[in-house]
Amino acid sequence: MNGGDPRDSDARDRGGDDPTGAGRGSVETDGGAASGAEASEGEGSRFSPADRVASVPPSGIREFFEIAENRDDVISLGVGEPDFTAPWAARSAAIESLERGRTSYTANRGMPDLRRAIAERVTRYGQSYDPDSEVLVTTGASEAVDLAFRAFVNPGDTVALPTPTYVSYGPGVRFAGGEPLPVHTRHEDGWALTTEALSEAGVDEADVLVLCYPNNPTGATMDADEMDAVAAFCREHDLLVVADEIYAALTYDGDHQSVATRPGMRERTVVINGFSKAYAMTGLRLGYAMGPEAAIDAMTKVHQYAMLSAPTTAQHAALAAIDRCDDEVEEMRREYDRRRRYVVSRLRELGLPVAEPGGAFYAFPRVADVASDGDARAFATELLEAEGVAAVPGTAFGAGGEGHIRISYATGLDDLKEAMARLERFLS
Ligand SMILES: Cc1ncc(COP(=O)(O)O)c(C=O)c1O
Repeated sequence: MNGGDPRDSDARDRGGDDPTGAGRGSVETDGGAASGAEASEGEGSRFSPADRVASVPPSGIREFFEIAENRDDVISLGVGEPDFTAPWAARSAAIESLERGRTSYTANRGMPDLRRAIAERVTRYGQSYDPDSEVLVTTGASEAVDLAFRAFVNPGDTVALPTPTYVSYGPGVRFAGGEPLPVHTRHEDGWALTTEALSEAGVDEADVLVLCYPNNPTGATMDADEMDAVAAFCREHDLLVVADEIYAALTYDGDHQSVATRPGMRERTVVINGFSKAYAMTGLRLGYAMGPEAAIDAMTKVHQYAMLSAPTTAQHAALAAIDRCDDEVEEMRREYDRRRRYVVSRLRELGLPVAEPGGAFYAFPRVADVASDGDARAFATELLEAEGVAAVPGTAFGAGGEGHIRISYATGLDDLKEAMARLERFLS
């Protein structure tokens, strides 16, 4: 009757609901819920956070962006997400999955064909994982990071975090009962992790090392020799490694280097990746973890009780993304690269030293020489107040970020040009 197109029959089954209207309605409901919560706040609460939660300070970025929200002329170089929309093939696969009524859970580990596609895709980085037993699909890379900490960190274990560091690792380690150990990387080394830095920080005594290359917030990548040396250190000191490689596809100079491909490292490494950055799919919330079977089994145990399975609609989008969106990913990568070159050369022209970012979409210039008292936070606040340019103070990424700011070039070139003109005026 309907030409075999399941979308026709499924649309009828839904009784003519208008999905757009339903979407708008749900946004309004969220607002209502928020004001309801505010109203009940005055009545007092019997909740106080558990010690693990209380021990984590509030995000250093949030308060800063509240200032930005109150102005309408702000150019934000603060966001850590693509300014692109997910490729159409991925979005249409999500729509089709809903039209076909695929609204159930999937297997805990994720749809088998998606796991196969992921395992096939990462062979380009020299990685080889069995899709049945060594791949777990998660709700964003964020969930995978959290699962890794909860699955492998015992109370009191030390987890080494190269700093400047992505903001979620420290809190994640604490929520799991572990102790973060900062490892200072340096502007002068291009923010690469060196074995000297690992030794100085006492990582030989640690239990787990987190690696994030290409890096948020510095944009640093590691070359093959640097990665070999870090791998040797991990083997020598028997460290487990959580390698967050979510920016792997956004590498500009040379090939992505994964620690898991080094001899003796696969068995001690969990690799995390996802669809948010390369495919501009942040809101779809899809990531994955790969590692030896015992590691993935342990993470799956936590995942199956905490999450059951990653969002089904997003899994269909992700499968289409891998199968059909290579051209769009490459176009976005080229555009980021163009912006990267522009931003780096302008910052240097303005006298702000910046290490060449080899990946992700961040630059991390030093402002210590031009900021009052070398204070990055004061610099970022003054820049925001005087010129309406929002960049994140480096201190939001741990002590190692002092004297620097993070500039995200996941922002259109016109806005970047205007932001650099304003920065020039501010500096002069
Ligand atoms: C290094 C790093 N890991 C993980 C994430 C979170 O990714 P997802 O959106 O897949 O949860 C981000 C997002 O900014 C990130 O920068």
